[in-house]
Amino acid sequence: MIEASLRTPLCDLLECRYPVLQAGMGGVARSELVAAVAAAGGFGSLGMVREQPELIAQEIAAVRERTDCSFGVNLIPAATDRRLFDEELAVCTEEKVHAITFFWDVFPEAIAAARAQGCKVLYQVGSVSDALEAQAAGADAVIAQGVEAGGHVRGSVTSLVLLPLIARAVGIPVVASGGFASGASLVAALALGAAGIHCGTAFLATHESFAHEMHKSRILYASAEQTVHTDAFGINWPPNSPVRVLESSVTESLDGNLFGHRPDRTSRAIIASEDGRDIYLFSTDSPLRSMTGDLERLALFAGQVAGQIDCIQSAGHVIAGIVREAHAVISGIGEIDAPAKNDS
Ligand SMILES: Cc1cc2nc3c(=O)[nH]c(=O)nc-3n(C[C@H](O)[C@H](O)[C@H](O)COP(=O)(O)O)c2cc1C
Repeated sequence: MIEASLRTPLCDLLECRYPVLQAGMGGVARSELVAAVAAAGGFGSLGMVREQPELIAQEIAAVRERTDCSFGVNLIPAATDRRLFDEELAVCTEEKVHAITFFWDVFPEAIAAARAQGCKVLYQVGSVSDALEAQAAGADAVIAQGVEAGGHVRGSVTSLVLLPLIARAVGIPVVASGGFASGASLVAALALGAAGIHCGTAFLATHESFAHEMHKSRILYASAEQTVHTDAFGINWPPNSPVRVLESSVTESLDGNLFGHRPDRTSRAIIASEDGRDIYLFSTDSPLRSMTGDLERLALFAGQVAGQIDCIQSAGHVIAGIVREAHAVISGIGEIDAPAKNDS
């Protein structure tokens, strides 16, 4: 009975048990994380922005070796060379992944191409106008990202305000993103018109994520005030693409000048490497298990919700905790309502 109350149309669309989506975080969300999320009843997405088609095929196969559950792949057309993007999309559709989650500028042709091959399409947006554009182009659901989100931040409005605006404007399921990591926040999102939540930071801080241990432990010690919204980390992305990262020596060196950077125009300083690939200061790479170097100076992507995260758990525990708390909150809301009814 209570279990049924968490089942939303999103669960039917994505063929998952709980309306809890793991954000497809580039580098961080690999097969180990996605399979763990899927096995626990959530919906995981491989973060494959700008990855080679061979790696995407390999990671899809690796998820399928671990679980039979459905899952998705995240791609970002606006931040990917056109030819590579077409190849990435082709692998996903040939492999018949259940869903593709896109982000940033809405590319109607990408939505059409994915849907024509039978994939469900979710588009993460930061405004009502982008949500309407994604819906008009055929998206099956939109993900409404509030400004408190970690990683790249598309809009400028908080989840509390944006989510009901988008939910009222569109006729397709809306997923709440940015600031969601608990069962209480899932219930709040449902109350505001969402059909589920989409969590990045909460799943970054899990055993299965591919993030470097340093990045995970920095999340644990961060308060909600210790994130920075800036466009300084922009190499490889279109200009004026803000991100939210944890405070670091690099963000301190900006001296309060958080916007108006053009990292694509400045000289490149190599500060880390991964399998022989140079990684530059102010790139959009975040520290991964596979990297070495001055990792603290990379983009330590995290949302303000980092202030609520105080231990590294398995992804399955994160989902079970969200579901357990959501049930408790729903029961509690019933108890709060009861005396008022009896009084009348
Ligand atoms: C480490 C990290 C990497 C991210 N990478 C991507 C990405 O590659 N593609 C994408 O669509 N969103 C990416 N995001 C943003 C998420 O999709 C989502 O909007 C965000 O995590 C939600 O906010 P939260 O961190 O408060 O849960 C990333 C977020 C984080 C924390």
